[in-house]
Amino acid sequence: MNSERKIIIAIDGYSSSGKSTMARQLASAIGYRYIDSGAMYRAVTLWAMRHGYMSQGSSPDVDAIVAALPEIKIDFKVEGPRQLTMLDGEIVENEIRSLEVSNCVSPIAAIPQVRHALVRMQQAMGESKGIVMDGRDIGTVVFPDAEMKVFCDASAERRAERRFKELTDKGASVTYEEVLDNVRTRDHIDETRSEGPLRCADDAVRLDNSAMTIDEQNQWLLDLYRSCVAAVK
Ligand code: DC
Repeated sequence: MNSERKIIIAIDGYSSSGKSTMARQLASAIGYRYIDSGAMYRAVTLWAMRHGYMSQGSSPDVDAIVAALPEIKIDFKVEGPRQLTMLDGEIVENEIRSLEVSNCVSPIAAIPQVRHALVRMQQAMGESKGIVMDGRDIGTVVFPDAEMKVFCDASAERRAERRFKELTDKGASVTYEEVLDNVRTRDHIDETRSEGPLRCADDAVRLDNSAMTIDEQNQWLLDLYRSCVAAVK
């Protein structure tokens, strides 16, 4: 692929709106690097939980977490089509997807210093373009000049169904109601935090994929990608 035409693709949206799947598949189809920015917030959360600075139902120890930020090493290991999240050299891909981490991540992601540190890391990852990044603030804060921006939406119930299936397929013992509750709580915290709140960038293309198959969604994204690349030529 011609490097002059490489662009930045920002995919934002609500939790479990299917954006990670679409971002990963698009990156693989066009030979771009894929970064799941949510995994980075989850890794900081796991770190805080392991150190006793955050637990379900309580508030995070913001001072302790902020003081440790420069020491927390987050990385990704590429293994075939998979991208594994690493925390201080350990693969934590499964741990960061647990409901416990999901229940604790929003308060951690609302800490401004945590956001600033991770946004800086994310911007560095996009320096040479050719990247697809998904998250909540990628098109608004991390890459406001991204050449392609998508904002994904789907009803809370539809998203909870997907997440419930994902978790139970992995053997987690959770109820649909717990997952729906987690989705709604995270939506609320993500939308109302003062720093980098979840919102659709003015120049993003909105996609409600509730009634779309994965194939239809992938085709839609590829078409949009082609028109965005053509526009920057
Ligand atoms: O996409 P996800 O559900 O794995 O994200 C986990 C949490 O991280 C989510 O509750 C919101 C937060 N997040 C964020 O604040 N900003 C991002 N760019 C990505 C995720």
